[in-house]
Amino acid sequence: MTVGLAITRELSIGNSMSIHEAIATLEGKRRYVRTLFATIADRYDLITVLLSYGQDRRWKRRLVDLAAPGPGTRALDLATGTGDIAFVVGARHARVVALDLTWRMIELARRKAGQGPSPFFLVGDMTALPFASGSFDLVTTGYGLRNVPDLGVAIDEIARVLKPGGQALSLDFDRPANAFVRFWYLAYLALVGSVLGWILHRDPDTYRYIPASIRRYPGAAGVAWLMEQRGFSRVRHHRVLGGLMAIHQGYRKSEFEELRN
Ligand SMILES: C[S@@+](CC[C@H](N)C(=O)[O-])C[C@H]1O[C@@H](n2cnc3c(N)ncnc32)[C@H](O)[C@@H]1O
Repeated sequence: MTVGLAITRELSIGNSMSIHEAIATLEGKRRYVRTLFATIADRYDLITVLLSYGQDRRWKRRLVDLAAPGPGTRALDLATGTGDIAFVVGARHARVVALDLTWRMIELARRKAGQGPSPFFLVGDMTALPFASGSFDLVTTGYGLRNVPDLGVAIDEIARVLKPGGQALSLDFDRPANAFVRFWYLAYLALVGSVLGWILHRDPDTYRYIPASIRRYPGAAGVAWLMEQRGFSRVRHHRVLGGLMAIHQGYRKSEFEELRN
């Protein structure tokens, strides 16, 4: 009850300024995101199904198909939420560690685990990973990169914990390049987000964070460029939903490749 009240109070402090102002600084975004996901964790699976018209699981499976993990793959799923991607990677017999900033998300993910081997779930920050360099063959994240305060730092951390030749894949919204499409897409997300926010939390601002964060996101081409600058080769992005979302895929450069560039 006390925690609930504290969260409500903190979000309403955030709401006294606009979302755009609240997430304009690194520290502001860190605080906003932390409070937001703690607030929505229990409704997260429902809201994801509603906002994606039930398609999100298909997109996540597509990401895992592209990654093609197998027995023995050491995989890390970042911003795992309630663990959707981690469970699909684990079902391909990979050894999976899954990390999220929000304690409640991790608790819900652990509850979903069945009888078989489960991913190892832990609370942590993807911009300061608690793993040695070169620990993983594969790093995945679904709707994770858009939520970190500093995208470059998160990409650096992913590159650091991957072994040379290891793969990174990220599914996220894209920021449509066409101004007309972008305007209507963001307006649509703001409208639907407001309605769902009001119905589920009595707060229309709750899901208006999504279009606000997309506005500040560099878009699929920008993310690909950052990955290329920060230790990845053969970077490409696959269009999802006609380009409204994207799956990025890249490979950690070897020392030799780093030296050649
Ligand atoms: C939109 S959810 C995505 C969950 C899941 N990957 C999925 O695709 O359904 C974003 C998640 O990112 C987590 N998150 C935000 N910032 C993070 C950070 N710095 N480090 C780790 N997780 C973070 C939130 O707690 C939240 O669970």
